Amino acid sequence: MPGFEVFGDEERKQVNDVLESGILMRYGFDGMRNNHWKAKEFEIAFAKRMQSNHCQLVSSGTSALTIALASAGIGAGDEVIMPVFTFVASFESILMLGAVPVLVNIDNTLTLDPKAVEDAITPKTKCVMPVHMCGSMADLNALKSICETHELLLLEDACQALGGTYNGKPLGSIGDLGCFSFDFVKTITCGEGGAILTNNTKYSVKADQYQDHGHDHVGNDRGAETHPHMGYNFRISELHAAVGIAQLEKLDSILAIQKKNYTIIREVLQTVEGITFRRVPEGGEENYSFLSFFLPTEELTKKAIHALSEASVDANFYWYTNSWHYINGWEHLRNLKSLGRVTDDVRGQLEKLNTTDFSKSDAVMNRTISSLIKIGWTETEVKERAEKMKRAIESVL
Ligand SMILES: Cc1ncc(COP(=O)(O)O)c(C=O)c1O
Repeated sequence: MPGFEVFGDEERKQVNDVLESGILMRYGFDGMRNNHWKAKEFEIAFAKRMQSNHCQLVSSGTSALTIALASAGIGAGDEVIMPVFTFVASFESILMLGAVPVLVNIDNTLTLDPKAVEDAITPKTKCVMPVHMCGSMADLNALKSICETHELLLLEDACQALGGTYNGKPLGSIGDLGCFSFDFVKTITCGEGGAILTNNTKYSVKADQYQDHGHDHVGNDRGAETHPHMGYNFRISELHAAVGIAQLEKLDSILAIQKKNYTIIREVLQTVEGITFRRVPEGGEENYSFLSFFLPTEELTKKAIHALSEASVDANFYWYTNSWHYINGWEHLRNLKSLGRVTDDVRGQLEKLNTTDFSKSDAVMNRTISSLIKIGWTETEVKERAEKMKRAIESVL
């Protein structure tokens, strides 16, 4: 997730444009802004790069998910199906709207298991939210067809998979809505920021209004604008958007280096008997930000993680016991630690989490190691890293 590895004069120039005019807000002040509309410019460029009709830039990936759900009318009591392996933003965005997160199993793609999704559908289900974790995608054909059959919204969380594709289309542009994060550790970064893509004009208008207090953005007198509905402030600032413009220009070169480094490491690891790799659905191409692989058992995987650390090979993640990404670590969710009262619908669903059988996901996650791919490595460093990884893992097999 290397956007920050490539900061340079391009980012500084963009930020200086904003600082020189002094207009840090994306709306208004037309006469003073030197014709700089950084957020607008980024939205147009990102929509084009991602082959989508509309892009709405916002303050974070978490707010992007919240706004995407809100723009499609998801609200109190509506059920949204999400995976047990993801980032906490998935359930946070759902709960924010009073909707109900329904957590289901993943499979060896490390994303939603379509069969588990089908089994979880009830009359209250409104949306399926696949999360393309660690650079690769859910089985989107299967999920799309389930959503079409049951008339559900398909919302892709592509925050970790910018640049990956499925049947030639950019991840995040395939569902009804797609969300991205530009936080500091993503493929490209604004410092903080997020985006929503959609081809649906109604959702795009609602998203535009919702992220800015419900403003209709008609005319150029902000004080005179009407508010077709309520909203919040999830706006991005011009400074953040400016950084994003420069980063977006670098996206294709970032992806190319990631792929090269990933391939070197994978070619070495695939010679190790006992290592298998995450399944990438047919027609999919990863963004190569992580190399995720499986060892034969939980015990061997724990030993391998220990051996990698002993060999000083950094950035190998064992999500099974990492507090951010897997249900095992979400004690605050499972035990309903909410600052305020939650609805009975939400309480009922979350109370089930401590007794639901997620052993299918456990059996995948407890054998998974994800190895981060950086772009600052020289070819020699990548090759050395690959050999070190091989030796460390072989020492425990
Ligand atoms: C899969 C996924 N979704 C959503 C988010 C939230 O993005 P942000 O940090 O911009 O709120 C993240 C951030 O790590 C993520 O990994």
